[in-house]
Amino acid sequence: MSGKKVIIDCDPGIDDSLAIMLALSLEELDVIGITIVCGNAPVEMGYENALKILRFMNRLDVPVFMGAAAPMKRPFVNALDTHGPDGLGGSFLDSVPSDAYFRQEQTALEFLEQTLLAESVSVIALGPMTNLAALADHCPEAFARIDSIVSMGGSFRSHGNCSPVAEYNYWCDPDAAAIVYRETDHLGKRIHMVGLDVTRKIVLTPDLLTYLKRLDPETGSFVEQITRFYFDFHWEWEHLIGCVINDPLAVAYFVQRDLCSGFEAYVQIETDGICRGQSVVDSMQFLKHDPNAVVLTQVDALGFFRFFFLRLLHLKKDPDLLPLLVRT
Ligand code: RIB
Ligand code: CA
Repeated sequence: MSGKKVIIDCDPGIDDSLAIMLALSLEELDVIGITIVCGNAPVEMGYENALKILRFMNRLDVPVFMGAAAPMKRPFVNALDTHGPDGLGGSFLDSVPSDAYFRQEQTALEFLEQTLLAESVSVIALGPMTNLAALADHCPEAFARIDSIVSMGGSFRSHGNCSPVAEYNYWCDPDAAAIVYRETDHLGKRIHMVGLDVTRKIVLTPDLLTYLKRLDPETGSFVEQITRFYFDFHWEWEHLIGCVINDPLAVAYFVQRDLCSGFEAYVQIETDGICRGQSVVDSMQFLKHDPNAVVLTQVDALGFFRFFFLRLLHLKKDPDLLPLLVRT
């Protein structure tokens, strides 16, 4: 593989699954490992779901590592109400038989520590940040060697999706998110925060799904199978015709940075009270604190879906998607 080495830390989860599918379709990336964290689904379920996605992508060679089964301090609250009883939209895909892959003995923390002490790689974080916080606590030297972190999480001016102000990944484990942003600050680095301000514009519509199925019946049908529940959820809760696919945007942005734009700012994560999990963005520099984040606020949604279709389906020419987008 010649692509940039990345570790995907995730909680599959429907949109995590689409993100893994996209990442494995990008020649710019070499996914050297997938670490699972409790979040949308319990960690064991997330582990099984990652294997189901790797099987579909014919990439069971990618090692998957079991990570944290609970947040650092908070009781674990999953999001199966959004992602379905199996975490994959109620598709209940057959489990991957144990003889079809090599079950890693290392934990996610052990894999992260060993890998990063050997070489500096990046992390695309798509779930609660419990694994990364554990790394920062247990082996700060390894954490410091993360080349860059692109995190799907947080929100600047958009309302929360699991509280008035908090986005789920940072709400589920606010203590972990606070540690990761604090340690990133101490290192003088910046987390790329792909928050709800931009991901809410990434709506997979029925028309886009129909087009996906026309262009590639097998992939399109698989995507439909795992997103059907998600479409229903979005209609019931937001009367949205479509579903917000947050995580694939973080992957696309990692490779094509001009899909999003924003600004550098100091960000601190609230860990308690009614605003638990809120990403407090000091956009006016009241705190006079150097930035520890790139906060993304604008996104080229058409550009994302063109990227998504072109790369996931390995198309030869640009698909004309503009008529199929929902205007949010
Ligand atoms: O708030 C959206 C995020 O939380 C996404 O990453 C979704 O998969 C869940 O993890
Ligand atoms: Ca996720």
